[in-house]
Amino acid sequence: MRAKERRITTSVLVIGTGGAGLRAAIELAEHGVDVLAVGKRPRLDAHTSLAAGGINAALGTMDPADSWQQHAADTIKESYYLADPRTVEVVTRGAEQAIGDLVRFGMQFAREDDGRISQRFFGAHKYRRTAFAGDYTGLEIQRALIGRAEQLQIPILDGLYVTRILTDDNTVSGAYGFDLVDGTRYLIHADAVILAAGGHTRIWRRTSSRRDENTGDSFRLAVDAGARLRDAELVQFHPSGILEPEDAAGTLVSEAARGEGGVLRNALGERYMERYDPERMELSTRDRVALAGFTEIKEGRGTPHGGVWLDVSHLPRETIMTRLPRVHQQMLELQMLDITAEPMEVAPTAHYSMGGVWVRHEDHGTDVEGLYAIGEAASGLHGANRLGGNSLVELLVYGRIVGQAAAAYSAGLVVHRRSHEAEGQAREEILGLLAEDGHENVRALQRAVRNTMTEHAGVVRDETGLKQGLQSISEIEGRAASLGIHPDIAGFADLAHAFDLKASLLAARATLESALERRETRGCHNRSDYPATDPAFQVNLVWSPADGVVREPIAAVPEEISQLIVEVSSMGKLVE
Ligand code: FUM
Repeated sequence: MRAKERRITTSVLVIGTGGAGLRAAIELAEHGVDVLAVGKRPRLDAHTSLAAGGINAALGTMDPADSWQQHAADTIKESYYLADPRTVEVVTRGAEQAIGDLVRFGMQFAREDDGRISQRFFGAHKYRRTAFAGDYTGLEIQRALIGRAEQLQIPILDGLYVTRILTDDNTVSGAYGFDLVDGTRYLIHADAVILAAGGHTRIWRRTSSRRDENTGDSFRLAVDAGARLRDAELVQFHPSGILEPEDAAGTLVSEAARGEGGVLRNALGERYMERYDPERMELSTRDRVALAGFTEIKEGRGTPHGGVWLDVSHLPRETIMTRLPRVHQQMLELQMLDITAEPMEVAPTAHYSMGGVWVRHEDHGTDVEGLYAIGEAASGLHGANRLGGNSLVELLVYGRIVGQAAAAYSAGLVVHRRSHEAEGQAREEILGLLAEDGHENVRALQRAVRNTMTEHAGVVRDETGLKQGLQSISEIEGRAASLGIHPDIAGFADLAHAFDLKASLLAARATLESALERRETRGCHNRSDYPATDPAFQVNLVWSPADGVVREPIAAVPEEISQLIVEVSSMGKLVE
């Protein structure tokens, strides 16, 4: 029997209902443009709701000397000069308006007694410029965006899994997908598609992403539609993910813990950051704090479970309860550990895809006409090390810009494309998977991908390991041809996992091939066989299945910004 298929037509389709997708949808609706937003997770539980410590803007509420130019300088320097300076300027200039938009949508920021928005230190920022709502900043942002979307009556479909972006002659015509509960197929015709479906950090074993999120969906959807990826190898390992319980390993302890005065110690009780960045200590850049923790553990100075200690117990109880309430609650729930009295055991966790779909800096358009990418799905802002708090502001700034760009694109069209061929292929792809009754289990193969990436493409990499990783991914790709997909009364999760697996395999391959090509050490990308930073690699690496890895030059940093960059000693930058 042929499955039920619903047809919907809209001007702009937004895939992903986290902060980036919702912000773009709001901009479209505020301009009177017909928009539909769809997501595989419930909107209130989108990954943005996990973002903890804060959002950056040079508001100067605490440190009046701050400026968008200084924010840009810090971002570019800490990206190890791989960030696109034009993208950086767009975000840092637009940050104040982004905060203003959030206030307009009802966001409750932490404030000083006189009403100023509070701002805290985050690692490697020259000034206090991270605004926050306790350590629930992402959740508050998500709530504010959902509230505004409801006021505007934006249609949002939760539990809709997009399997394909439909194109005709390299131009978007819509998307295809299915309902995760009853399997109903969705054929959505749209002039433009905004891809806001996150990154690929769930392909590592210890990650701050939960099950079934950040499985590389944006990468696969974009690449299958004809777009390219940029800097897939540049993955941020956050220094503090918890170790236990096993099924929550990698869950984040926010950088806010260090921002508020938390200290790191090894099993010998040494405050080891003195050896790695004596100037900035725990508020050094994420790549350096993560590598320091990795090195301490590797060299045998780790804790009983293979981590390091992160201690906030010396802070006033009130600071912990008002500024770190989520960490406090989470450690009680997951480990029965009271952080006002005891240290936490943490280790590096795969946290953020700094690369992503190749986009233009002006409007985040891709190689495919009418296809845009934003948020963690996109690339250009972070280079080889992301400043904590920059991702939330990026998604708000570019959400607004992309909304406007997609609106103008749609308004300028004279024909609405349809491709029966692309629609037919999308239907067949689902039918093909459902018809399979192979012996391979999709969860087991997802686990195999995660083991492979953890073993061969973690904090420290080398050529032998990366090649073994590629070999292993090829084997898993072979096994994935014999999947058994069995939707049941509970729903179509099995089918979604099969598409997640396809996405993860593509993301893993792009990551490994790009990491192999980047024969140097820079920021998060530590090659033990190439421990030096090589000026020849001050380029972005652009990946596609057809062309492999291609080098892309980076625009020059404007004088106004470069004069604000202060070099910090790189003493203590170690690789094993
Ligand atoms: O540690 C954190 O709170 C994470 C913030 C970020 O990744 O931007």
